[in-house]
Amino acid sequence: MTANVLLEKRDRIAILTINRPDKLNALNTATRQELSHVLDELQRDPEVRVVILTGAGEKAFVAGADINEFEGRTAVQQREVMKTRNIFLSAEEFSKPLIAMINGFCLGGGCELALSCDLRIASEKARFGQPEINLGIIPGGGGTQRLTRLVGEGRAMQMILTGEMIGAEEAYRIGLVNEVHPTDQLLDRTLDLAQRIAEKSPVALAMAKAAVKAAARTTLREGLDQEIDLFAICFSSEDKEEGVRAFLEKRKPNFQGR
Ligand code: COA
Repeated sequence: MTANVLLEKRDRIAILTINRPDKLNALNTATRQELSHVLDELQRDPEVRVVILTGAGEKAFVAGADINEFEGRTAVQQREVMKTRNIFLSAEEFSKPLIAMINGFCLGGGCELALSCDLRIASEKARFGQPEINLGIIPGGGGTQRLTRLVGEGRAMQMILTGEMIGAEEAYRIGLVNEVHPTDQLLDRTLDLAQRIAEKSPVALAMAKAAVKAAARTTLREGLDQEIDLFAICFSSEDKEEGVRAFLEKRKPNFQGR
């Protein structure tokens, strides 16, 4: 636990909460650094198999970068901020499944952070947007790239050019979120999903993530080659032996992550 980030562990699931509810969990420099640091720790923690990332309070997941820090900042300074400890890359390169649990405003850098996660589970009152254009800037945390890949150029372009928000149902319709739940069920339903994933082989989960992520980074041919390599790596794991044996013995597998 740090000043701006809370960490709770429930069995094999870690819940990471960005904790600046008075500022709608806006991402200031300290919060971004703490988040990267905690993700590094969770990466190394063999007890943790799935991570849920959320925002504190009733109103927001994350309402974007902390706009107070933009005032007077030069281009050189801003580039430095974005290059060092890039939280969006840290999230994307995190090898365990990372689920964004979105309970309210999910804007700007908050939407980009959710886009850097593997799955997005939203409450009915979640609102999504890339409002940077209203400040005379553009998304800088991957929004122009990850949003476009996820929902297509036309829809991404409309969100980015207008800066307007969309609701949870619309976000679901365009594929921005995986599931939408009533607000009072959001935590339980997200934990349930996390639990189902946590029962899988951690080795296979990491390989699966790497293979799916390759699709956005490479050509189809390179991606297919990577998939074969990652598939083959699974065959070096004890988990693969356990999974196959459990199926043949008609029992549930008990994966150890080896
Ligand atoms: N950076 C810094 N502070 C922020 C913030 C951000 N991105 N988003 C919200 N806050 C602060 C507000 O300044 C306010 O602080 P205060 O109480 O000290 O004045 C507090 O969070 C509550 O926000 P408020 O604007 O009063 O809530 P609201 O319900 O009226 O409006 C939003 C909610 C999300 C519509 C509005 O806060 C907003 O537009 N935020 C900026 C979103 C944005 O442009 N993000 C992209 C940044 S690149």
